[in-house]
Formats: sequence, C-alpha cells, structure tokens
Amino acid sequence: MFTLTEIADDPSLLTRRLARIDGSDVVFRPLTHADTEPLASFLMGLSPESRRLSTFDGYDLATAQELCDAIARYDKLRLVLEEVPSGRIVGLLELSLELHPDDIARYREASIRLTATDCRFGPTLADDYQGKGVGTQVFPLIADVARGFGKRRIILLGGVLADNARAIRYYQKNGFQAVGSFTGTNGVRSLDMILDLDLPPGQ
Ligand SMILES: CC(C)(COP(=O)(O)OP(=O)(O)OC[C@H]1O[C@@H](n2cnc3c(N)ncnc32)[C@H](O)[C@@H]1OP(=O)(O)O)[C@@H](O)C(=O)NCCC(=O)NCCS
Repeated sequence: MFTLTEIADDPSLLTRRLARIDGSDVVFRPLTHADTEPLASFLMGLSPESRRLSTFDGYDLATAQELCDAIARYDKLRLVLEEVPSGRIVGLLELSLELHPDDIARYREASIRLTATDCRFGPTLADDYQGKGVGTQVFPLIADVARGFGKRRIILLGGVLADNARAIRYYQKNGFQAVGSFTGTNGVRSLDMILDLDLPPGQ
C-alpha cells in the first residue's frame, strides 16, 4: 500500500502517459511542489461555470501555492493531467483519503455505513478538455490509485450539484450509483454517489 509521503518523494510511482484519441497526449501524475505556476494558470483559466460546478478556495497564484504546500501534509492526494509537450495543466483530480463527519452522517441516512476503506473523489478538467472523454479515460487510473491506498469504495467529494448533468452522467457511466440528495449551506441541491471498487466495471 502507498503512503502520501512515498508518493510525494517519488511521484513516478503514480505517473502514467495517456494517448489521446484526438489532440495532445496527457500525463497523469501527482501534483508536485514545482507546479505552483501551471496550477495557478489552470485555476485562473476556469470559466465561471466550471467554478460554480467545482469550487476551490480561490482561483489564483496564492491558492495554487497553498495546494502545492499542502502536498503530503494532510489527507488529500492531488493528481494532475499535464498536456504534452506544452506542460500545461489541464486537469486536477482530488482524492481525499479521510472522510468528513458530514459525509458519514448523510450516508448513514441512506443506510450506508462509511468506513476507513472509503475515500472521496473530485475531478475538474480545463474547460477545453471537458466533454471529450478524458475524464472517463483517466478514471481507471484513479480507481487504481484508490485501491493502492487500500480503498474499496469511492464517494464524491462534496457531492455533485443536481443540475450538473454532464458530471452525473460521467459518474454513472464510470459505475457510480446515486444514493440520495442533500441541500448544501448555499441552498443548492446536490447528489451523493458511490462506487464499489470490488464490483467488476459495468455492474
Ligand atoms: C465532470 C468532468 C470531470 C467529466 O469529465 P469529462 O471528460 O468531461 O466526461 P466524459 O466526456 O468522459 O463523459 C461525459 C458524459 O456526459 C455526457 N454529457 C455531456 N454533456 C451532457 C449534458 N449536458 N447532459 C447529460 N449528459 C451530458 C457525455 O455525452 C458523456 O456521456 P456518454 O459518453 O455516455 O455520451 C468534466 O466535465 C469537468 O471537469 N467538468 C467541470 C467541473 C465539474 O463539474 N466537476 C465535477 C464536480 S462534482
């Protein structure tokens, strides 16, 4: 099993190159301390709609610096998609290896008992990379990383907004099932979804 420190010390453990069917190849790899500027460009480039669908604390250099400083500091593993050969970051994929008490409480209402072998996932692609199958192409790698940390199920980090039809379709086609809905502090309705990594794909 991996630890966050091992990954931070040797990002090549999780680095894979993906051949795109159309367009440039991308490299899937852990975020590193050298990524502050390209990550800032990625965050700054997100459209208002992408920022509404996938919320970060900020969309600037300071936020990118915080995310890079946080590597192996707490439960988050952040992976990026780097376009080749430009070096541009075109995706940020977050895995949270620990659960939040609010998640545990919500899933309990749906009769699902979350445990230490569950983790949370939140993907964000650059606007020009959305809706082209890249999220689906990369998902098996995410599932492998989760398994590498001893995880057996994946839930959504903060749920998915009920009006985010593309993301809901994306999760469904990658094996997630809706388990319930909740209204966030912003008054907006979101869905909880879960994937059982022990089930064969398509079950
Ligand atoms: C969500 C996200 C990671 C998905 O990755 P992706 O590469 O765009 O997804 P894919 O192209 O692999 O799959 C999208 C699916 O939704 C479908 N889709 C696209 N727009 C849709 C819409 N408006 N309504 C319903 N389905 C839609 C696509 O046709 C495809 O399904 P199909 O293969 O069965 O045809 C990406 O779109 C993204 O970063 N979105 C913005 C941020 C976000 O919403 N993050 C999730 C927060 S919970």
